[in-house]
Amino acid sequence: MPDKEFITHSSEETIAKGREIAAKLSPPVLVLLSGDLGAGKTTLTKGIISGLGAAREEDVTSPTFTLVHVFQKSITPASEASSQPFKVYHVDLYRVENFHDLESLGLEDALAEKAIVIIEWSERFTFRSDWPRVEIHLEHAGGDARRMTISGLRFEK
Ligand SMILES: Nc1ncnc2c1ncn2[C@@H]1O[C@H](COP(=O)(O)OP(=O)(O)O)[C@@H](O)[C@H]1O
Ligand SMILES: [Mg+2]
Repeated sequence: MPDKEFITHSSEETIAKGREIAAKLSPPVLVLLSGDLGAGKTTLTKGIISGLGAAREEDVTSPTFTLVHVFQKSITPASEASSQPFKVYHVDLYRVENFHDLESLGLEDALAEKAIVIIEWSERFTFRSDWPRVEIHLEHAGGDARRMTISGLRFEK
């Protein structure tokens, strides 16, 4: 699967892209987000988690201080036949200084049951997990433009 590149021109467009990505995700999966401060990692995550139906957009906020937010995707009548409930983890490693701090986050628990685990600043650590991974690198591309490079997902166009 070749890497896929997109440019968005507003946070709304980035959120829409997140929703499109959400439709392609199923647990277990690691979604590894990388890129500078303000590149749009949290904004994209709003789209992914709301797109999964695990929370409303406005309830997805940066876990900069709390480090980990957990959402529960419950079964809706429409999806009952095909899906199981699962958890969605939103993790921010910006303030995680070392491996000891990383261990204290309890990510092993997150990885013990099939979940969707979205990690901001994932480039700060390497993760030992045999789960499928989607890697998304975001970067500033002038003004409100952001370039997004995605590996591990198939796109039609
Ligand atoms: N195309 C865009 N995509 C995402 N965010 C954008 C875009 N244009 C402007 N922004 C703004 O940039 C900031 C991105 O912040 P955030 O998503 O918190 O970044 P990060 O989590 O990578 O630090 C927000 O203030 C958002 O409104
Ligand atoms: Mg962020």
